[in-house]
Formats: sequence, structure tokens, C-alpha cells
Amino acid sequence: MNGLSTINLKDMKDFEIRIPVKECTVDELPAADRRLVEEAREATRTSYVPYSHFHVGAAILMADGSVVRGSNQENAAYPSGICAERTAAFYASASHPGVAMKKIAIAAWTRLHNDGDCPWADCFQAMPISPCGACRQALLEYETAYGPIEVILYGRDKTYIFPSVASLLPFCFTDF
Ligand code: THU
Repeated sequence: MNGLSTINLKDMKDFEIRIPVKECTVDELPAADRRLVEEAREATRTSYVPYSHFHVGAAILMADGSVVRGSNQENAAYPSGICAERTAAFYASASHPGVAMKKIAIAAWTRLHNDGDCPWADCFQAMPISPCGACRQALLEYETAYGPIEVILYGRDKTYIFPSVASLLPFCFTDF
């Protein structure tokens, strides 16, 4: 066909991509990681979420030991809002230019999935939430520039730990 050779579907090579992930409860995390999760939980207090009522917090541990927090900020023009992870990453880069981001912890809760008047700390999602594609791409940029960023996804029942942003974004676009 047009001089190009074709290959039968059955002759194509299959392969799988495996993603390394660790699972534990928050209590099983090393103390420093538990503190970063606590920073992420605290960061949810600063969410501005009049539309989704879904409070997300992120905390980034910088190579100089400082922690930068971010939370999701919504807008009446919906796409103009931004996730907690990108708020934190952009703030981290803007306030600590050239400093590597070592770890990011993410936590989320919503009253909508609860019976209304539970204390905020108990409203956290039982299972972790995972950063959206745009946030993975944004974080990947800093990872490519400065080295791996461990990703800690907190849930009341389970916490997942990924060794890097790239592990959450197979076939990622890095440069051209
Ligand atoms: N959101 C985050 O901040 N991070 C995520 O990882 C997923 C979603 C926000 C965006 C929006 O403000 C709300 O959660 C509902 O999607």
C-alpha cells in the first residue's frame, strides 16, 4: 500500500509498563513524611472552593528543608481555577528559584461525601486522590530540571508513595 510495508496486528510486539508504588497507612510513614502529610492536610484550610467544595492541599519539601504549601483556588470562569499541586509547585519555584523539590504530599476532603457536620480532620478522603494530568506535567518540568520528586498521596485508610512524577506519567512529554 503506497509502497509502505504493513504489519499484522498479531505480529506486533506487546509490552507492559509497570509502575512502582508503595502502600502503607499514614502511621507507618517515616516521621518526616508524616509531617509533610500534616502540612498538606493543613493546606486544605486555605482552599477557595465555592464551586466544588472539594478541598485539596499540597505540601512540597524543598532541598533546603523548607516546606511550601498550596491549595486549590477556583474561579467563576471554571477553567481559570487551579489545582493545589500546581499552586504549590509554581509558588515553590517562584519563591525558591533553582531549588530542587524533593517530595510532594497531597491530601483532600469534602463535606459533600460526609454527613455534614463532621470535624474537618475526619472528612479526609479514605483513599488517596491522585494529581490530574496537567499537574503531573507541570511537576515533571521541575523534576526534569532538578531531579526526582517523590509523590505521597494521603488517604485515611491508605497512603501511596511513588518514587517520582515520571512514574505517574508514562510516555511523558519532556522536551522537543
Ligand atoms: N483538584 C486539585 O486541586 N487537585 C487534584 O489532584 C484534583 C482536583 C481540584 C480542582 C478543583 O478545584 C477541585 O479539586 C475539584 O475538581
